[in-house]
Amino acid sequence: MKRRSTAWFGPTDRDGFIHRSWMRNQGLPSHLFDGRPVIGICNTWSELTPCNAHFRILAERVKRGVYEAGGFPVEFPVMSLGETLMRPTTMMFRNLVSMDVEESIRANPVDGVVLLVGCDKTTPALLMGAASCDLPTVTISGGPMLNGNYRGEQIGSGTSVWEFSEDVRAGKMSLEAFMDAEACMSRSAGHCMVMGTASTMASMVESLGVGMPGNAAIPAVDSRRAVLAHMAGTRIVEMVNDDVRLSQILTREAFENAVITNAAIGGSTNAVVHLLALAGRIGVELSLDDWDRLGRDIPCLVNLMPSGKYLMEDFYYAGGIPALLRELGDRIHKNALTVNGNTIGENCEEAECFNRDVIKPIDAPVSSKGGIAVLRGNICPNGAVLKPSAATAELMQHRGRAVVFEDIDDFKARIDSPDLDVEPEDILVLKNCGPKGYPGFPEVGNMALPTKLLERGVKDMVRISDARMSGTAYGTVVLHAAPEAAAGGDFALVQNGDQIELDVAARRLHLDVAEEELAKRRTAWRPPQTQHARGYARLFHDHVMQADTGVDFDFLVGGSGAEVPRESH
Ligand code: FES
Repeated sequence: MKRRSTAWFGPTDRDGFIHRSWMRNQGLPSHLFDGRPVIGICNTWSELTPCNAHFRILAERVKRGVYEAGGFPVEFPVMSLGETLMRPTTMMFRNLVSMDVEESIRANPVDGVVLLVGCDKTTPALLMGAASCDLPTVTISGGPMLNGNYRGEQIGSGTSVWEFSEDVRAGKMSLEAFMDAEACMSRSAGHCMVMGTASTMASMVESLGVGMPGNAAIPAVDSRRAVLAHMAGTRIVEMVNDDVRLSQILTREAFENAVITNAAIGGSTNAVVHLLALAGRIGVELSLDDWDRLGRDIPCLVNLMPSGKYLMEDFYYAGGIPALLRELGDRIHKNALTVNGNTIGENCEEAECFNRDVIKPIDAPVSSKGGIAVLRGNICPNGAVLKPSAATAELMQHRGRAVVFEDIDDFKARIDSPDLDVEPEDILVLKNCGPKGYPGFPEVGNMALPTKLLERGVKDMVRISDARMSGTAYGTVVLHAAPEAAAGGDFALVQNGDQIELDVAARRLHLDVAEEELAKRRTAWRPPQTQHARGYARLFHDHVMQADTGVDFDFLVGGSGAEVPRESH
């Protein structure tokens, strides 16, 4: 089989000279250009993405494996997305990075790709870009940080921040103690170590079969993470030799396995939009309703924050995803192929669970309600989502008065006011925070509770928005209302004092206002003014799709393969 890279490095003419000669300024011997597999290592290393700041070391481990198997590794950077620092939200740049990845792969002489991913959006962005090229691909997650430890207690990234900051606002924690907790939370390389979005997406990588067994949970600083990277390096060379492409791994069965796994881990709602977008790139039919149907009867088995009490380090020691998949038995498609050459069933058939309090047995779960509930109603005809395992059972069926915030600025200006007219049984509604609205679909849906209610000891309220929520967060939070308010969805029509009914069991979210009145409000509605006249923000605003179809750009759905017929000289 003629390799793709041979079109660059094979010819003995002027162009071949150019392709090899400039590469050789890196001290590369001529035999590396003899037609062996060229493996691109797509690196999201950045000191501004602290979760991925150890990736240069990880890349070196991949290179060892590639060389050992007779390949030629070439590392290249792509834009990195650091969840904690980027404004207005990393989600706005997921599609941009996917374009960077897709075009970097297609334009260069690589036969196979290793994706180094970690912080939340880096995983879907790299997978989406690679899927549109469809070369042999292995994904390696950077691994979670070691468990946080504060004054002898385990604390989790994000989850404990939300808890502590509410405690400070309620006067239960001093500012000194709050500041002290910072360093105790993030005490090693790696990504958030709760079952937040990064850990969820690392689990998706493993359950989709695009990562090696163990990918999800081995801590970033554990030597076995380096071994996994080394073995992934050897494996990608074999995959190129056998021409095993991403589309052979990312099948409908693989996506169903991932959706089921997401329910069993109590995974992030963000996985919904990312997997919908990825399925769109690789040509697999996957819908919001699949999420509800496939996950509905799957109990949450993994006892990790924010749904439970442990952290990713504990999950690894308990057996990680392989032990979980074994516990799920025939609920998963065991014949789905994975990147190590085995089926997912073969990968987990001998997996042992070493801690039954971390990975619960199927007949004694953390919660019988794993999965993602997809709600519909007159304010979200295309769907909205809620994570039952992170919600308050008593609020799952609730009727209340809407307390409406028109946008995030309105929310921030009024939420702490003693004059805010709000009671514990009210429903907080936040508009104009969807893909077009913020812009970028930020994680503000788990809006903080009003200070005056926190002081009264209120712990949770029903909250509804067209925004997303951090995977580290919790509460009875309805998210991703589609179509969003800023796109003219009827979610924009909710007004202060309206009655809203939430019935999670019936999958219903209803604004109890007469259709005549809604029609009047619809006629009076005007789109919010966009401040994005140019640049990437303009492209995003004009082409982003809604939450129920994955928030990809309309022109990026599908793939273009890896062939480029034209030469640059
Ligand atoms: Fe990077 Fe949470 S901030 S994974």
